[in-house]
Amino acid sequence: MKPYVILNAAMTLDGKIATHTGSSEISGKEDLKRVHRLRRECDAIMVGINTVLIDNPRLTIHKIKADKSENPTRIVVDSKARTPLNSRILNKEAPTIIATSKSAPKERIRKLSQKAKIITTGNKKVNLKKLMAELKKMGIKKLMLEGGSTLNFSMLKEGLVDEVRVAIAPMIVGGVKAKTLVGGQGIPYMKDAIKLQLKKYHTLGKDLILEYKVLKSQK
Ligand SMILES: NC(=O)c1ccc[n+]([C@@H]2O[C@H](COP(=O)([O-])OP(=O)(O)OC[C@H]3O[C@@H](n4cnc5c(N)ncnc54)[C@H](OP(=O)(O)O)[C@@H]3O)[C@@H](O)[C@H]2O)c1
Repeated sequence: MKPYVILNAAMTLDGKIATHTGSSEISGKEDLKRVHRLRRECDAIMVGINTVLIDNPRLTIHKIKADKSENPTRIVVDSKARTPLNSRILNKEAPTIIATSKSAPKERIRKLSQKAKIITTGNKKVNLKKLMAELKKMGIKKLMLEGGSTLNFSMLKEGLVDEVRVAIAPMIVGGVKAKTLVGGQGIPYMKDAIKLQLKKYHTLGKDLILEYKVLKSQK
């Protein structure tokens, strides 16, 4: 059992979700509102630790009118409990879960547990399947995956993503070191690609929104 997972991201036409310096202001203002409406529909928002370290996001609903009580739970996938204690994701605007592994130093866990709930799965890295099962047990039915590139790959590879929604901005930045929508180790052969089905597409301001269903692998 797992929550229903929607991977959402904004990317440039060349598939980058940030520049090689980590700059990631891609969405137009209409798209930002779409993202915040989607946040409001979800019980939780999940990101990888690098996104927290680079962007220091709040992950709350603040681009549209919403009550503080509508903010989804924030989840950081952070094997070694590196989330800085002063990061915005630990503010009091919404509950936060730090998903760690057994490799996290005990002292870091102790400090973080004063500001967030800790869920430990996996030895070196977070075991995403077990994490999803735990979250479902806690009542999280719909989860928005907001990146970055490395976590997106792991979640897709493990078959844990149900939908992919992307906003493609009319911009190109290039750069071999700039993160793409999906990074990680990658899949060696095209025949093994994760297959999607296009469900909806429309323009929103200058951006193009594409919504796909992830087709479950036949294996
Ligand atoms: N445009 C957009 O929509 C958008 C959205 C989000 C992020 N971004 C950009 O994405 C960039 C960050 O992406 P990123 O790829 O560097 O990092 P990331 O996906 O945010 O975080 C990856 C980290 O998560 C941790 N992790 C723990 N268990 C994992 C598992 N089972 N599978 C995968 N990761 C696991 C690992 O660090 P540990 O081993 O330390 O745990 C891993 O290095 C930033 O520049 C940010 O601006 C863009």
